[in-house]
Amino acid sequence: MHLATLLLALTGSSIQLCAGYVAHAPLDGSQCTKTTVAILGGGMAGVSAAQALANASIADFVILEYRDTLGGRVWHTDFGTDPKGDPYTIELGANWVQGLGSSSAENPVWGLAKKYQLQNTVSDYDSILTYNETGYTDYSHIFDTYSAARETASKHAGRILNENLQDMTARSGLALAGWKPHRDDMAAQAVEWWNWDWESSFSPETSSFVFGVAGENLTFNQFGDQNNLVIDTRGYSAIIEGESATFLRPNDPRLWLNTQATKIEYSANGVVVRNADGSCVSAAYAICTFSVGVLQNEVVEFAPALPEWKQTAIEKFSMGTYTKIFMQFNVTFWPEDTQYFLYASPTTRGYYPVFQSLSTEGFLPGSNILFVTVVESQAYRAERQSNEQTKREILDVLRQMFPDKHVPEPIAFTYPRWSTEPWAYGSYSNWPQGTTLEMHQNLRANVDRLWFAGEATSAQHFGFLHGAWFEGRETGEHVAALLRDECAELDGVELCGGRMHYDILHGTTPIDAYTALNGWPVNSTSVQA
Ligand SMILES: Cc1cc2nc3c(=O)[nH]c(=O)nc-3n(C[C@H](O)[C@H](O)[C@H](O)COP(=O)(O)OP(=O)(O)OC[C@H]3O[C@@H](n4cnc5c(N)ncnc54)[C@H](O)[C@@H]3O)c2cc1C
Ligand SMILES: *[C@@H]1O[C@H](CO)[C@@H](O)[C@H](O)[C@H]1NC(C)=O
Ligand SMILES: *[C@@H]1O[C@H](CO)[C@@H](O)[C@H](O)[C@H]1NC(C)=O
Ligand SMILES: *[C@@H]1O[C@H](CO)[C@@H](O)[C@H](O)[C@H]1NC(C)=O
Ligand SMILES: *[C@@H]1O[C@H](CO)[C@@H](O)[C@H](O)[C@H]1NC(C)=O
Ligand SMILES: *[C@@H]1O[C@H](CO)[C@@H](O)[C@H](O)[C@H]1NC(C)=O
Repeated sequence: MHLATLLLALTGSSIQLCAGYVAHAPLDGSQCTKTTVAILGGGMAGVSAAQALANASIADFVILEYRDTLGGRVWHTDFGTDPKGDPYTIELGANWVQGLGSSSAENPVWGLAKKYQLQNTVSDYDSILTYNETGYTDYSHIFDTYSAARETASKHAGRILNENLQDMTARSGLALAGWKPHRDDMAAQAVEWWNWDWESSFSPETSSFVFGVAGENLTFNQFGDQNNLVIDTRGYSAIIEGESATFLRPNDPRLWLNTQATKIEYSANGVVVRNADGSCVSAAYAICTFSVGVLQNEVVEFAPALPEWKQTAIEKFSMGTYTKIFMQFNVTFWPEDTQYFLYASPTTRGYYPVFQSLSTEGFLPGSNILFVTVVESQAYRAERQSNEQTKREILDVLRQMFPDKHVPEPIAFTYPRWSTEPWAYGSYSNWPQGTTLEMHQNLRANVDRLWFAGEATSAQHFGFLHGAWFEGRETGEHVAALLRDECAELDGVELCGGRMHYDILHGTTPIDAYTALNGWPVNSTSVQA
């Protein structure tokens, strides 16, 4: 073999060995719009990141948003008609402010709800009647059985976290605390769905015990257990639009609506974002706020491909689907002063289980609007089938629940298809079992100049709107500090350089890693209910 050939072969093989880590060709963004920070997505996280930048006097940013409006998964629509012939406003996505807070720890979303005088009403979870296929039947005592076990389970989860023991499924954790509903005890299954699946959009089998409980503690013990349902004619997104107006002028050229990013090129020196319409942005940093659903569906190409630790984190986290199906009738045939109606299907767990009345005082009285929520496999099924098919199934259920009433055809009927929305691919994330804080940190961590934020990157408030707000703020402040060559200081914690990530994951996370640097600023076991 000639020396030259040998050298070539050696060089060739060394490139092979480094596949994936090959020095990327320098980014060519010379034809693109230049900016300091590209914010990808105009939901709650994107807007709070932009506001944090603006607060830090960094005004040179661009927000790229797929849709024709800000708000993302906070999304309302017109529905039905009121007595004057005008439509009602319903929330297809986020609907509650969850945990309002006290003076010591306020949910930032509650602060915004007050600032914009968002109309809302407290959800009364005791205002519930229980049903099965024979009609009204009182199995409400099962709620107390579940609650007692849940309290024991909660302490156990706290011990597992603090003693750095192995996580388990919420199913195992609940069973060890004595909650073991039989597969054919459909009333108990309905009560369990109401308590677990409804919030996490996944079953106890597919949820982390430790982080499921810690997440509930951090929202409902820290901010209080009140949930207020938003019923504002401007839509819940009025708080996001309102905050955006604190730093965007009308028709601000920094807001690019109707812009679908399709390729993100990143390096240690900058980021170039290419869009479906041929436009592109070249930035010093980018903050990607796309949902885990969007990231998992590989509809946006990353160049170079994301490193294995990041790709693993994206595939390991879970994206749920939570579908609210809305009906308006010409009459309120259900008890007018009750908020919730729980249905236990005789055969299928999670089959149209929770009906919610908007016709009740404090919501949209006189509207005759009722909606039912499904999650996971029942949501996928409903989202695949026609409105007509779903309507028939629900009317059958309602006729079982109210055998003595005339249940008419609805006069309006609609529901979103979250699982296939190309800008969301699902509703919100959930923490799967056996997933450590370090693995979650890999979902948050930046890759070179490309940063990530959103509800799913929130270790403490994943799934919630306030999680998206906190993560947007943290990321905006962090990037602003890097641009000034400084460390950020947020709630008394110094954030310097890039975020940590873990190339090698272990079975558990060491206790001294439960810090703000891994997204864990508050001790979940010492927040008091
Ligand atoms: C049905 C449902 C019910 C919910 N209920 C509640 C609730 O009651 N209370 C609560 O606190 N939370 C609730 N949530 C969760 C809450 O809505 C989310 O946590 C929050 O809105 C997420 O904000 P985000 O900024 O992280 O993501 P998003 O809102 O998804 O923002 C990301 C943005 O990126 C855009 N985007 C995506 N792909 C691209 C692309 N290729 N190019 C450009 N832009 C793109 C999207 O259009 C979107 O605007 C609910 C969510 C759903 C769907
Ligand atoms: C920006 O500053 C305003 C005014 O102090 C504050 O209300 C807001 O919460 C800040 N935004 C973020 C994301 O930190
Ligand atoms: C949740 O809060 C309860 C009550 O304060 C506590 O006993 C438990 O340890 C906490 N669990 C976790 C996982 O944070
Ligand atoms: C439904 O409730 C009725 C009345 O309480 C009861 O007789 C029946 O067994 C219940 N159905 C199921 C499937 O448990
Ligand atoms: C509602 O519509 C049904 C037909 O679907 C009709 O029989 C009934 O009288 C109507 N009720 C009211 C209150 O208008
Ligand atoms: C949380 O606080 C408890 C009690 O003060 C302590 O024992 C535990 O180690 C702390 N947990 C973490 C994760 O810091």
